[in-house]
Amino acid sequence: MPARLFLSSGDLMADRRFEFARDLQLKGDLPAAADLLMQAIELAPNFASAWFTLADIREQLGEHDAAVSAFQKAQASDANDRHGAGLRLMRLGAEPLAGMPQAYVQTLFDQYAPRFESSLVDELGYRGPKLLFRAVLSVRATARKPALFKRAIDLGCGTGLVASAFARSVDHFIGVDLSPRMIERSRATGLYAELEVADMLQGLRARPDADADLILAADAMVYVAELAPVLAEAARVLAPGGLLAFTTETHDGEGVVIGHGLRYAHAAAYVRAVIESAGLKLSLLEDRSARNEDHAPVPGLVAVAAKT
Ligand SMILES: C[S@@+](CC[C@H](N)C(=O)[O-])C[C@H]1O[C@@H](n2cnc3c(N)ncnc32)[C@H](O)[C@@H]1O
Repeated sequence: MPARLFLSSGDLMADRRFEFARDLQLKGDLPAAADLLMQAIELAPNFASAWFTLADIREQLGEHDAAVSAFQKAQASDANDRHGAGLRLMRLGAEPLAGMPQAYVQTLFDQYAPRFESSLVDELGYRGPKLLFRAVLSVRATARKPALFKRAIDLGCGTGLVASAFARSVDHFIGVDLSPRMIERSRATGLYAELEVADMLQGLRARPDADADLILAADAMVYVAELAPVLAEAARVLAPGGLLAFTTETHDGEGVVIGHGLRYAHAAAYVRAVIESAGLKLSLLEDRSARNEDHAPVPGLVAVAAKT
């Protein structure tokens, strides 16, 4: 993942102490790092990066309550919560499951963009776009229709790997992504006719009815807690006969949870239910992992749904 976000406190001494603390943290001296961070916070009480790092250390030291309180301070110190302290609070069970702060997703992927493909594809064996392509081919083959589409919308298009996988199957590709830096990378591929920096739900809302015959989302729904609103808009934007195909991470329990990788995992029964309530017909739902973590495949699903 990208280098840790740093938001200056505006106080040189406090920033210095933060830098030393990070150094100690990286060397594994967590108590000393925590001491220095508290000194930095004394100098700059609203120092979001220091609160966030302190919370992270408290969590690593198994100090649950102190971690919760420091994540709350980090959240309160940055109105946009670019560090994603709210997510960490959800994972610690201190806040109910909710959507990801947009500024967090944007910051994460803006930082990640230059290394995204080497990190995800090479190191984590990322295969989301290929899984989607095979799933769409299989659904079309079963329906005895060619896998050719006039207009496709790629939700969370990132650096453009999906357009590359579907390049020969789609005439007009539209990419939507929250991160301007990821969009820049997609633009550089020359594979998209249209690109838009937007949240996927807003991007879909701005589209007319029956605007596309294919909607794709590879490894993007993992950043969306509640899928129902996006799927309902996708159903509206799809032309009759069109397909929606997406990957998710999954888990054996019920509903939606937040995993260790700070991405949401959607249970298979939940995915079936939201597809049905969006008025779409499930064509394919398979257990398929889009990436590895700690050298093991992360449990995942590939779903294809049709607008009838
Ligand atoms: C892991 S990347 C996958 C990129 C691409 N689909 C691929 O398969 O390589 C996830 C992308 O989804 C984008 N994203 C996450 N949440 C989003 C949202 N709510 N709306 C639009 N884009 C989003 C991120 O900015 C990031 O570029």
